[in-house]
Amino acid sequence: MELCRQLFHDPDVHELPRPPPATETAGSATPSPRCATPVAATRKRSRVEAFGSTEEYEETCLLGEGGFGAVVKARHRDTGEAVAIKRLTDPDPDGGGVWREEVLREARLHETCGDHPFIVGFLGVVRDPATAELGLVMECVGGPSVGEFLREQRRRGRLPLPEATVRAAMWQLLTGAKRMHEKHVVHRDMKPENILVSGDGRAVKICDFGLAMSMSESPPYDPDAGSLWYMAPELLLEKDDYDALVDTWSLGCVMAELINGKVLFEEGRDEEGQLVEIFDVLGYPEDKTWPWFSSTPFAKEVLPELDVHHRSHLREMFPEAVLSRQGFEVLDGLLTCNPDKRLTAAAALKHPWFAKVDALELLGNEEVSPAALTNKELLMVPVVPCA
Ligand SMILES: Nc1ncnc2c1ncn2[C@@H]1O[C@H](COP(=O)(O)OP(=O)(O)OP(=O)(O)O)[C@@H](O)[C@H]1O
Ligand SMILES: [Mg+2]
Repeated sequence: MELCRQLFHDPDVHELPRPPPATETAGSATPSPRCATPVAATRKRSRVEAFGSTEEYEETCLLGEGGFGAVVKARHRDTGEAVAIKRLTDPDPDGGGVWREEVLREARLHETCGDHPFIVGFLGVVRDPATAELGLVMECVGGPSVGEFLREQRRRGRLPLPEATVRAAMWQLLTGAKRMHEKHVVHRDMKPENILVSGDGRAVKICDFGLAMSMSESPPYDPDAGSLWYMAPELLLEKDDYDALVDTWSLGCVMAELINGKVLFEEGRDEEGQLVEIFDVLGYPEDKTWPWFSSTPFAKEVLPELDVHHRSHLREMFPEAVLSRQGFEVLDGLLTCNPDKRLTAAAALKHPWFAKVDALELLGNEEVSPAALTNKELLMVPVVPCA
């Protein structure tokens, strides 16, 4: 498959600092460690600099919670606009403002990409005058996360999803990723929990720029970033000059999960175990498929102990009955171990599988009203009583 690399150059994010060391382990409730790098001054004044106040909003419901704080639904007191606010609590108020800079870094990266139908809209930063806590104001997305959606589909015995649905969702996600990558931003944490379904089920939107980085800085980048089950092999092998292709690997994992609702590589308990699981399915790299691989400590120290084979078993896991030949070519292209041979978002979108894309209808009519649209409402815990 032809490799189509993006040439990154975008003045808007040029002055952003290199991303921080950050790791988030799949399934863990712990939040992502955040950036400890000061944010450089920007040339133009953006919504990130022009802080609003939390007092402009009335909080209504809790949408999600993490170690970072909480995402709440809120209503603008004057305009009535419904928004989501990601409230980020400083875990170390004596930390000399490091946390604040990390929040602003997330805000800036999100703002850089946020004006797109398949990326959660970014609306600004607010400050709580009483506590000095900062919040990221976003478009409020009405449906569940793709992770929640798939769990529900599984519970109802509605998997695998029709190929046309997987194609429509992947087209949107790759279109969103292409936009991010054109803006030099690498998300680094693409996974079903960080993809939200719109209230009408017709769009999927990428959220959570907590681990994102800007490619405008030169390597080395910290390879210890992402959620283990969705991390690309080069990250697991600690390559420190990776690029946007780490996101398309993760989207390959998401595509596999969209088809059958199961995490593709979920047995890994650490980086080494994750690599073994990946290579057991896709075949162990060899010099002709990935020359760099043989120089890694994994290849030198771990490989000799293993029962190595070079054949991919991916098609056996996704046979013709669930995925056409063209669909499989996209999956296989995204899940290519050597990033130099992996599909970029732009190249994947040119694949004939996407020649015709249906409208997305993730939430069927009977689910939209009222049962499943309120799926999310059911998950909401009132912050203040909801009307
Ligand atoms: N704009 C939004 N609209 C509706 N719900 C949202 C929105 N943003 C986030 N959420 C909900 O809040 C949850 C957590 O948000 P997010 O993924 O940004 O935080 P996190 O993973 O805990 O953060 P981080 O990785 O930065 O520590 C999401 O999975 C989703 O359920
Ligand atoms: Mg998240």
